[in-house]
Amino acid sequence: MKAIQLTAPNKLELVEKPIPKPKAGEVLIKMAFSPINPSDLAFLSGSYGVNKGYPVVPGFEGSGVVVENGGGMYGRMLTDKNVACVVSPKYDGTWAEYMVTEAKSCVKLGKNVPLDQGAMFFVNPLTAISFIQMAKKESYDLIVMSAAASALGKMTLHLANEAGIPFIGLVRKEDQLEELVKNSVLAAIDVSKDSYREKLKSTCSKFRKVLYLDCVAAGETPYKILSCIPGGSKMLIYGQLELNQKPVIIPADMIFHHYSIEGFWLQKKICGFGFLEIFSMTGKVNKLLAGGFENKIASKLALDEFDKGLSEYVNNMSGGKVLFAM
Ligand SMILES: NC(=O)c1ccc[n+]([C@@H]2O[C@H](COP(=O)([O-])OP(=O)(O)OC[C@H]3O[C@@H](n4cnc5c(N)ncnc54)[C@H](OP(=O)(O)O)[C@@H]3O)[C@@H](O)[C@H]2O)c1
Repeated sequence: MKAIQLTAPNKLELVEKPIPKPKAGEVLIKMAFSPINPSDLAFLSGSYGVNKGYPVVPGFEGSGVVVENGGGMYGRMLTDKNVACVVSPKYDGTWAEYMVTEAKSCVKLGKNVPLDQGAMFFVNPLTAISFIQMAKKESYDLIVMSAAASALGKMTLHLANEAGIPFIGLVRKEDQLEELVKNSVLAAIDVSKDSYREKLKSTCSKFRKVLYLDCVAAGETPYKILSCIPGGSKMLIYGQLELNQKPVIIPADMIFHHYSIEGFWLQKKICGFGFLEIFSMTGKVNKLLAGGFENKIASKLALDEFDKGLSEYVNNMSGGKVLFAM
């Protein structure tokens, strides 16, 4: 089979490998699609929270058909079915023609969910659902989100609208404002403009407690944004897209405005979910992807076009997901 292999930080090659065999509790998936996500870029550079050594096939999530199972009731139920899947922590990833993973890391796709949309089933949808659950559970009355033109931003906005939670979307390019406004945000604000802080402050002042979702994390902008929202609010850092600067936290804000900063990583969060919670969340994602919400896809490329795919994605992340099509 063909696979993309990482041999050192940011060193990729296309290789021929034997098709892996599933053991008990595992399944073999003939991969259909797999996206490039920011977490993949971090994994390629060696800066992600998981390090599997080299050589390794990257790719955290995707879709395909289960063509073999190594035994076990769930694996047998999934055989010959279209599934969404995530990589096993023990094995190679999704950027390959075939992948073995635990049967419990797969979900049968609803009959109206196409395989391309199904390839983006786990990472962003489950994160967006977790954000909304947190907003409800901790009684936030407003969500402020950076990089709001991202796939995760759009999905979080969709779910916030559904839950009736007001949402302010922050972007860094003017041309990204229009789509946010069309999707009914309370305010869409371009943080590259000098005047952004006054607008953010006055819009936030009508609210009591804000959940500020941030994936930029470094430089001074994320912390200047925090200082515009009401005291007692929480900044939830779930990514670090700004790689060239260090974070510039304002200690006085933390002390006198009683802000809190917390981290979020789906991989850890998901370990705390029970079977019923996972069942209900994946049911919701199947419904969302079957209609009502569609991830924007910029292009579908063959595995051997990995250089083109990566540069296309990095140069226009808000333009939609680049998928490897096997
Ligand atoms: N912690 C978790 O468990 C978890 C789970 C899911 C996602 N995430 C994180 O969520 C974020 C969004 O993921 P996604 O898949 O939705 O991304 P995406 O659709 O690929 O979009 C990335 C977005 O980030 C913006 N961006 C890139 N570099 C930036 C920078 N330095 N400053 C400000 N904005 C920047 C891009 O805007 P431009 O068009 O302006 O470049 C684009 O809108 C990522 O950081 C990802 O790692 C974390």
